[in-house]
Amino acid sequence: MKKNFSDDRQDVLIRQMKEADQENLIKNYCSPWHSLKENVDFWKAAFKEQSLGIRTIYIIEKSEEILGYGSLLRKSEYPFFVNVPEINSVWIVDKYRRSGFGTLLIQHLEELAKKEGFKMVGIGVGLYKDYGPAQKLYFQLGYKPDGHGITHNCHSVVKGKHYPIDDELILWLTKAL
Ligand SMILES: CC(C)(COP(=O)(O)OP(=O)(O)OC[C@H]1O[C@@H](n2cnc3c(N)ncnc32)[C@H](O)[C@@H]1OP(=O)(O)O)[C@@H](O)C(=O)NCCC(=O)NCCS
Repeated sequence: MKKNFSDDRQDVLIRQMKEADQENLIKNYCSPWHSLKENVDFWKAAFKEQSLGIRTIYIIEKSEEILGYGSLLRKSEYPFFVNVPEINSVWIVDKYRRSGFGTLLIQHLEELAKKEGFKMVGIGVGLYKDYGPAQKLYFQLGYKPDGHGITHNCHSVVKGKHYPIDDELILWLTKAL
């Protein structure tokens, strides 16, 4: 899919990830929030899920340079997303942030979910400061809390218990398509 805009987003291409992208993604687009091993494991598992039709990974690029990526996961680990696909692992390269690429990519994933007949799409967001931009973006795009509180490792947290403030502490949001 090629889109034409009158700003920075001119000639942006959103395309499905290919096996040949794997090495480049692992080498140059590792998430700094995770170790190299975690990144390698993530891309291998994600690509396998794509080949099984569980996940579709999209790359957003301009002039063959990768600006970011994100995926649609048809079977979320979060138990309350029943027949609700999850927009997962959205990442825009630092220097290309605040130019609308994250919005574009998410809208593309929403369109894909809609085309597949889903009536709702979901997304999880972390609670600590690094997730501030994502929290603002998702609310701006119309996502709302799903009403089940927060989870740690996909299990609802229990009042009075202690949990680390990490990437597994998540608030889940949904949006009607
Ligand atoms: C979250 C992320 C994908 C947003 O990508 P992006 O391309 O910068 O987003 P956009 O340019 O489409 O931003 C759209 C809106 O989101 C909000 N937003 C995005 N980044 C923001 C920031 N740093 N501070 C405040 N608001 C922000 C703004 O409302 C913005 O609109 P505006 O620029 O007109 O004010 C990007 O910051 C990122 O990759 N973060 C690290 C990874 C991450 O958190 N992924 C999500 C995991 S749940």
